[in-house]
Amino acid sequence: MTNGTETITWREDAGRDLVRSFGDRMALFVRGEGAYLWDDQGTRYLDFLAGIAVDSLGHAHPAFVEAVSTQAALLAHVSNYFATPPQLALAARLKRLAGTGESGRVYFGNSGAEANEAAFKLARLHGGVDRPRILALKEAFHGRTMGTLALTGKPLMQEPFQPMVPGVEFIDSTVDALEAALDERVAALFVEPIKGEAGVLPLPEGYLAAARELTARHGALLIVDEIQTGAGRTGEWFAFQHAGITPDAITVAKGIGGGFPIGALITFGAASDLFYPGTHGSTFGGNALATAVAGAVLDEIERAGLVENAAVRGTQLRTAVEGLDSDLVAGTRGEGLLIGVALTHPVTKAVTAAAQQHGLIVNAANDSTIRLAPPLTIGDVEIDEFARLFGAALATVADALLLDEPPATASAPADDAAGDAPRERKEPK
Ligand SMILES: Cc1ncc(COP(=O)(O)O)c(C=O)c1O
Repeated sequence: MTNGTETITWREDAGRDLVRSFGDRMALFVRGEGAYLWDDQGTRYLDFLAGIAVDSLGHAHPAFVEAVSTQAALLAHVSNYFATPPQLALAARLKRLAGTGESGRVYFGNSGAEANEAAFKLARLHGGVDRPRILALKEAFHGRTMGTLALTGKPLMQEPFQPMVPGVEFIDSTVDALEAALDERVAALFVEPIKGEAGVLPLPEGYLAAARELTARHGALLIVDEIQTGAGRTGEWFAFQHAGITPDAITVAKGIGGGFPIGALITFGAASDLFYPGTHGSTFGGNALATAVAGAVLDEIERAGLVENAAVRGTQLRTAVEGLDSDLVAGTRGEGLLIGVALTHPVTKAVTAAAQQHGLIVNAANDSTIRLAPPLTIGDVEIDEFARLFGAALATVADALLLDEPPATASAPADDAAGDAPRERKEPK
């Protein structure tokens, strides 16, 4: 079926014209509908990555399409010198969903990194000169800009870009480590409630509640990065809500826009008074088009009960994975529809490639964890099909292992479109 010439052409174009900070593109997708994607050859794939936890409603959902086209025809952008109805409506909705009460405030950017940059500046405004220290968790991912890279606890990712923005210290994800690190010179603690990029690693039971208590005792802000976990993905609107705490700020992006670029910082209580005119801004952030689309996406998540669906389908999906007859599956972890499938061998590159051959898109979060983040809309049909395709992919890789010829990619580093450690360093010529 594959037309070799065409395939080579797009790969050549990508290799020549696109920035080399990403690995080789794995397919050329031309269309999507629901949980399915079609490539340039007309081959259909079940998409259990959803643009890395972005396409909450799946592809080309009528609510998304309608919101983009209606708002684009009405008013797209006027700058933050002015307000627009969709922007005000989305701010009010996010405050309600996050439970900030009256005093909450929302800053809009265009990505997760921008939301976290705003949160970093919030922490600095809170800390001033007396609190120069910021704590973040080892292995947590917060973005690729210089500020958010400084917050990201992955030394290999930071290394080519040293020196980092100063003041950030990385601690283990334990209450003991937090207790030992906190003092009156700490401005904020940043946490990722489930470390998605690191391999869907949840925080220890009780960590968020303890972090809330300890940061409050020391006068430090608790800032929760909900960029991957927010918008209902974990079976609550935001992952911090499982812990029943009130943070000082959360950051959101990805699934909020359902494929339209948008990010936001949502503040609670006194943290809402820290920014004052001139301290932050963005030309595009919170424009009418982005906020109208995000409003429609959140509307549909609420209307269709997709937060509850994420919880129910998440359990169903994990049961399906654990029921697969494969020695390669060690277990599952995560919450709702953000799931890590732990493998017994470091063969995730081979599994994602085999899955794609079988018509399934999954992601290698690291060399021994497959990440699943399907649209929140999935049901029995998609889960049954996933189990069949994923089982077939695992069998393909297991067969290769049994032949005692481990796939060449067996110990390759994580496959990470969103980014992870640099794969190899090439000295500039
Ligand atoms: C937890 C977390 N924070 C921040 C980011 C950065 O978001 P963006 O890629 O939209 O800048 C990501 C993206 O993967 C993420 O998962």
